[in-house]
Amino acid sequence: PPNVTADTGMDVLTHAIEAYVSTQSHDCSDALAERAIKLVCEYLPKAYADGDDIKAREKMHNASCLAGIAFDKVSLGINHSIAHAIGAKFHISHGRANSLLLVHVIDYNSQIKGYKTIEFSETAKKYAEISSFLKLNIFNEKIAVDSLKDAIIKLQKQLNMPLTLTECGIDAKEVESMKDEIAELALNDNCTKTNPVKPTKEDIIKILEKII
Ligand SMILES: [Fe+2]
Repeated sequence: PPNVTADTGMDVLTHAIEAYVSTQSHDCSDALAERAIKLVCEYLPKAYADGDDIKAREKMHNASCLAGIAFDKVSLGINHSIAHAIGAKFHISHGRANSLLLVHVIDYNSQIKGYKTIEFSETAKKYAEISSFLKLNIFNEKIAVDSLKDAIIKLQKQLNMPLTLTECGIDAKEVESMKDEIAELALNDNCTKTNPVKPTKEDIIKILEKII
């Protein structure tokens, strides 16, 4: 069904992006993740729009496999850590949970504050590389990271995906009451170890607040 295609496709994209910025990433995992990201951006909208588009389905299978090999080598990051917790607590599908978080985790990991940052982090530079190979606007790292986030939101809208937990039908008060517990679970998740930025509990809560 289209919604399962969208959710699982966004999971593939999250695997590839998190592998690309993992603390363990290397040239081989980057190559696998890069190809996966390009394939998802080109073929996920096609597979969603027409489930009988066999070429798009095949390309998404390949993207899923490539991203899987990439993260099998270098693991993931806090996008998955938080998604594991909110998926379990609120019973939303894994890919959908990842999708809700993706632009906010990129925002957090890139650590860009304002337009006057002279030195960009290595992670911001890697996100900028993604924008570069997707042929987005890469005037500087700040613009490049913004372009990547915009491209992801555009993709989510094409796939009619929710952008908040409220849009998934979750009661905001319930989320508020569980923020602490979710942050604890996410901090202790194995995927947090390879996130490019070491988060505090407060950092995780701030990310969570953005998707309520
Ligand atoms: Fe996943």
